[in-house]
Amino acid sequence: MGLPGLSGKVVVVAGGGSGIGAATALRLGAQGWRVLVGDLGESAAAGTAKLIAEAGGTAAAVGFDLGEPDSVRGLFDAAVAEFGGVDALFNVGADMGAVRNDSNVVDIDLEIWDRTMTVNLRGYVLTMKYGIPLMLARGGGVIVNTSSAAAFQGEPARPAYATAKAGIGALTRHVASRWGREGIRCNAVAPGFTATENIRSAPHWPELQAGALKRMHSPRVGETGDIAATVAFLMSEDAAWVNGQVLNVDGGTIMR
Ligand SMILES: NC(=O)c1ccc[n+]([C@@H]2O[C@H](COP(=O)([O-])OP(=O)(O)OC[C@H]3O[C@@H](n4cnc5c(N)ncnc54)[C@H](O)[C@@H]3O)[C@@H](O)[C@H]2O)c1
Repeated sequence: MGLPGLSGKVVVVAGGGSGIGAATALRLGAQGWRVLVGDLGESAAAGTAKLIAEAGGTAAAVGFDLGEPDSVRGLFDAAVAEFGGVDALFNVGADMGAVRNDSNVVDIDLEIWDRTMTVNLRGYVLTMKYGIPLMLARGGGVIVNTSSAAAFQGEPARPAYATAKAGIGALTRHVASRWGREGIRCNAVAPGFTATENIRSAPHWPELQAGALKRMHSPRVGETGDIAATVAFLMSEDAAWVNGQVLNVDGGTIMR
């Protein structure tokens, strides 16, 4: 199994225990990538790795915390120990609990602001800090970060979440411009409302879905596979000349 040229390459999925990260890890595993699944939830990461293995792929799992530098370094140590190096990184983890109290700049609890910046934004700095040297040692690599439609649309709530996601765009362009000539491509995907298992299981799912449909120009909301397909493309040689971009994948929610 595996696409030509991809077989055996190593990807770290930082936040692959559920939702978009898990779906993307499965897709990359099915394409022949060797996948290190990292997540705050160690058993969730192990569950994704098991599904990849059951589908005939190669995967391992590690518990780690995007908020803790030593823990992020440990994620990459594990990739080297398990698979001998790193060719690609999918940054997808985010503290989706903090966003519930991410009110507005007048009322915001500063602990929520700090937590969001620490995990959702600084966490991606750390994964790239430890991942890029490993990719350079292999002659280059590919990074896909996860932004959000929230980075582009004005919203009356969740300012910390939106600011962190907007910052990911700047980080993406920084990495692409600093290391592009050395063979590192760094892009971001900005999903719109994507119906993960967590979102579908919310008690107000019908209202969530109806509200989301009003914001987009598509007959349906997003599925995790929509984002996984985009990430797989950005990781592939078909995207060899795509660098420094934030790609909105959201049923036309954001048009620019
Ligand atoms: N689902 C959507 O509608 C949507 C829309 C736009 C952007 N996004 C982004 O997509 C990404 C995935 O979201 P999802 O909807 O699949 O959510 P999810 O909650 O299913 O997945 C997030 C994963 O990140 C992990 N995580 C949380 N904190 C962590 C930490 N400190 N260290 C390591 N891992 C941690 C969680 O355990 C979880 O497995 C996030 O970056 C999110 O902001 C999602």
